[in-house]
Amino acid sequence: MTGLPIRRVLLLLAVASAAAVAFAARRDAAALARPAEKDDAGARAAFLDVYRVLMHPRCMNCHPSGDAPLQGDDSHVHLQNVKRGDDGKGKYALKCANCHQDTNLRGENLPPGNPTWHLPRKDQPLVFQGKSPRELADQLKDPGRNGGKSLEQLVEHVSHDKLVLWGWEPGDGRTKPPLPHDEFARRFRDWVEKGAASPE
Ligand code: HEC
Ligand code: HEC
Repeated sequence: MTGLPIRRVLLLLAVASAAAVAFAARRDAAALARPAEKDDAGARAAFLDVYRVLMHPRCMNCHPSGDAPLQGDDSHVHLQNVKRGDDGKGKYALKCANCHQDTNLRGENLPPGNPTWHLPRKDQPLVFQGKSPRELADQLKDPGRNGGKSLEQLVEHVSHDKLVLWGWEPGDGRTKPPLPHDEFARRFRDWVEKGAASPE
């Protein structure tokens, strides 16, 4: 008779701790969806820093408004009539990987390189060129226009993606974006954690 209540207490404890774990998981998910420290002014300021990098030629040249990549600090249309193609990897004989190797070639005006060098796909072009800060922030928050990513996945992308990191190792003769990479990634995270408000 005396054993039963103890077993019941243990069972109750087990149920309660399982519920606590589930509650903590839900609370974490909710914290991401609805940031605890929503701060519209802080978010807008963070995005304006992020925007300066996104619009830099090292990034914008692969996020063009048209169907061709851009080149150089003046972002002229890519020579040799290179085009995006449906998968972003070029068309016909002008596949990106024919000229762009796994690493930057040494010397000015030679192709930069990366194992996955390509443009965004034609049906998800992820255009940065010509967008105002507000337009670009709205686009980045829209999974229908950002490649189906959550805000957390975007933070992950700008922190670790190899093509993003290439911007800070761009090869001879190319300028780098205006913020160091770690600061850019931190300001992107600030924008998301403060509620991802779009600039006015
Ligand atoms: C026929 C060779 C060739 C092909 C094919 C080619 N490129 Fe290039 N690309 C180059 C060369 C050479 C440069 C360097 C030009 C310079 O620095 O003056 C370059 C530079 C670039 C740059 C500029 C980098 C910067 O920030 O200034 C981008 C972006 C680029 N290519 C994207 C692509 C993409 C995407 C494809 C495929 C859709 C592609 N290229 C196909 C030869 C090629
Ligand atoms: C060689 C071309 C290339 C360069 C250079 C490049 N990107 Fe991209 N970027 C892509 C491709 C392709 C995708 C889509 C594929 C993916 O999501 O992994 C993409 C996706 C993205 C995305 C996520 C999707 C979205 O909503 O736009 C962000 C953010 C981004 N790039 C930022 C940058 C930044 C910042 C730089 C410069 C530091 C940069 N990119 C340089 C090709 C490039």
